[in-house]
Amino acid sequence: GRVVALVPAAGRGVRLGEQTPKAFVTLAGTSMMRLSVDGLLASGVVDHVVVVAPAELIGAAVGLLPAGVQVVEGGAERIDSVRAGIAAAPDADIYLVHDAARALTPTTLIARVVAELRSGRKAVVPALEVTDTIKTVDILGGVTGTPKRSELRAIQTPQGFDAALLRRAYEAASADDPATDDAGLVERLGERVRTIPGDPLAFKITTQLDLTLARALTAATTK
Ligand code: CTP
Ligand code: MG
Repeated sequence: GRVVALVPAAGRGVRLGEQTPKAFVTLAGTSMMRLSVDGLLASGVVDHVVVVAPAELIGAAVGLLPAGVQVVEGGAERIDSVRAGIAAAPDADIYLVHDAARALTPTTLIARVVAELRSGRKAVVPALEVTDTIKTVDILGGVTGTPKRSELRAIQTPQGFDAALLRRAYEAASADDPATDDAGLVERLGERVRTIPGDPLAFKITTQLDLTLARALTAATTK
């Protein structure tokens, strides 16, 4: 089966607050987008990579990426960008969806997600136990509940899917769907999503604190 990795990289990086869109921000001179793609290619389990970039930076993305990586234009929301990636690679048997912002994701995690799909699972997500207590709140900030922490997981990428299932999930999704990950759309179809152990290094670089950590880790491993 042909494994296609879709890399949403079309976000603005508002929370990071750098001059350039987040996927183009560098760690030790290499863009997050390139680091994420290199990890996917180095995993040895990915046949083709599609990067979804901001419209005005398509050419810049092509210039930063290895030959053979396809680059397509993203949309306003992440869901629009992933949809564009799916459309660009209709021949996939398995899709991995992997945030450009998870630039330090170990290749071993990528390989474990694909191995799980190859063993017959149709939707696989990396998951970590949460360390903070998580509460639900109303719009005024009043606490409305405290879900049991032992039942909560923080979900990472790459998320892996049987290609037909992911296409069906996106066909069923509406434009203003509030799902914050791809598995959420699959769950709505009533299909079972399996978790596997995630990896702390697959953290999403979202804030300046995350960027500081990512740069420190990169400096430590390239010495
Ligand atoms: N993404 C995308 N298209 C969008 C929004 C997000 O391809 N319209 C991508 C981002 O580039 C990122 C991944 O989805 O690699 C996860 O999103 P997030 O961490 O939220 O990145 P941004 O949307 O860029 O950041 P922010 O929400 O702070 O603006
Ligand atoms: Mg975002």
